[in-house]
Amino acid sequence: MRIITLVLAGAALGYAVGAASAQEMGDPAAGEKIFNKCKACHAIGEGAKNRIGPELNGIVGDKPGADRGGYKFSKGFQDWAADKTAWNETLLTQWLTNPRAVVKTTKMAFPGLKKDADLKNVIAYLASFDAKGGKQDPAAALKAAASK
Ligand code: HEC
Repeated sequence: MRIITLVLAGAALGYAVGAASAQEMGDPAAGEKIFNKCKACHAIGEGAKNRIGPELNGIVGDKPGADRGGYKFSKGFQDWAADKTAWNETLLTQWLTNPRAVVKTTKMAFPGLKKDADLKNVIAYLASFDAKGGKQDPAAALKAAASK
C-alpha cells in the first residue's frame, strides 16, 4: 500500500513538473492563430516559399539572416545579424515585440506583438517546425536554441 502511494505521488509530481514546463513554453496551437498576422509575408510548414519575408521553417535555433532559399535581407538586417548566433526565445521576443526597435531600417513592416502570451505562443508555434517544414518537439527546439 505504501509503495502504491509513493508511486502515485511520484506520478503526480512528474505530471505537475511536466505541466509547469509546458506552460512556460507557450501554446503552439494558440500561436498558430497569432501566425495569421505573419502570413501576409511569411510561410511556414511543408513547401513553404519565400514571400515578402523569408519562409520560417526551422527558424528557432537558426542563425539570423542565414540563407533561406536566396532570400534577400535588407542591409540593416544583415549588419545586425552578422554577430548573432541563433534565434532563441529571448531574441525572437525582442524582434517580434518591435522589429524597428531592433533594426531601425528593417523591411519587416510589422508593428509588433504587445501581449506576452501572444509572443510566447507564436514562438512555440515557430519552434514546432523543423528546417524541412515537418513537425518537431517545440520544447526541445527552444531548449537547444537557448544554449547556442
Ligand atoms: C508586412 C510583412 C511582414 C509581416 C506581417 C511579418 N514579417 Fe517577419 N519579416 C518580413 C521581412 C520583409 C523580413 C526581412 C527583414 C529585413 O531583411 O530587414 C522579415 C524577417 C523576419 C524574421 C527573421 C528571419 C531570419 O531568417 O532571420 C523573423 C523571425 C520574422 N520575420 C518573423 C515574423 C513573425 C513571427 C511575424 C508575425 C508575428 C512576422 N514576421 C510578420 C516581413 C514581415
